[in-house]
Amino acid sequence: MRYLHCSDVHVTDNYAGRQLLRLGWRRWIAMAELQLGGRARRFAQAEETLRRIARDAGGLGVDHVIVSGDLTAYSMPEEFTRARAALAPWVESPARATVIPGNHDRYTPGALASRRFERSFGQLMSSDIPELAVEDGFPVVRLLGQYDAVVGLCSARVPRFPGMSFGVIGQAQLQALKHLLAHPRLAGRAVLVAVHHAPFKANGQPDRPSHGLVDAEELLALLPGPRFAVLHGHIHHRFHHPATAGRPHIFGAGSSTEAGDEGYWVLETAAGQLSSARALRPQPLMPAAVAGTA
Ligand SMILES: [Fe+2]
Ligand SMILES: [Fe+2]
Repeated sequence: MRYLHCSDVHVTDNYAGRQLLRLGWRRWIAMAELQLGGRARRFAQAEETLRRIARDAGGLGVDHVIVSGDLTAYSMPEEFTRARAALAPWVESPARATVIPGNHDRYTPGALASRRFERSFGQLMSSDIPELAVEDGFPVVRLLGQYDAVVGLCSARVPRFPGMSFGVIGQAQLQALKHLLAHPRLAGRAVLVAVHHAPFKANGQPDRPSHGLVDAEELLALLPGPRFAVLHGHIHHRFHHPATAGRPHIFGAGSSTEAGDEGYWVLETAAGQLSSARALRPQPLMPAAVAGTA
């Protein structure tokens, strides 16, 4: 099976044209990052780049697309709608895509309460092992072919304050994952686990407490060895920590649409193991050679 893993695509609304009252205080604070920090400029082409990535997936013969969160900039309804449209037709069918939320998709209590993520991507939340879904449909499981499984977890929580963007999977999902991994229907399969927050940074060190994955060690302990891979985003750097005897592969997709560092992973499995991994850049509008490996 062939997978395209992208992340942190951050489809970004035109906030300059928005009424401040509609944005709410959390987004007022975020506006400094967006405008003064240059974020608006770096993600100005995000929607178009995401369309290119979705088109690339077809050209590359991908079987299943995985997006590990941060579809939006700040959880605006229009951002979700545009992200879903850009990912068409992949996200129309659970067999073709797994999409999980990132912290930017749970940016406000209102976005969570109104189920904004689910309104655009809820069609992908039907699990093949629904009896082990314990929190808002997570873990969501996709059994693919004879030898693969994709598991989506949710680590994104509404922050108390913008900038407090750490992630928590939580005991309920971790226990469910433990039961899943012992489930006979997963026996012998390669298991790709999508989670937004990163277990490690590119240098192998834990992320800082205000940004990292609180229960990273508990997650990794459940996934010993090269049969397993963790596919994450959140850190906007693309990297791969190869599996060891006791640890899974860890793939950070970076931000797949950030200007100057666009890219994604193409992963292949064979007979219940990861067999290859390539980091590629989105193709330009005219066909050209694929660039870059990592
Ligand atoms: Fe992000
Ligand atoms: Fe994030």
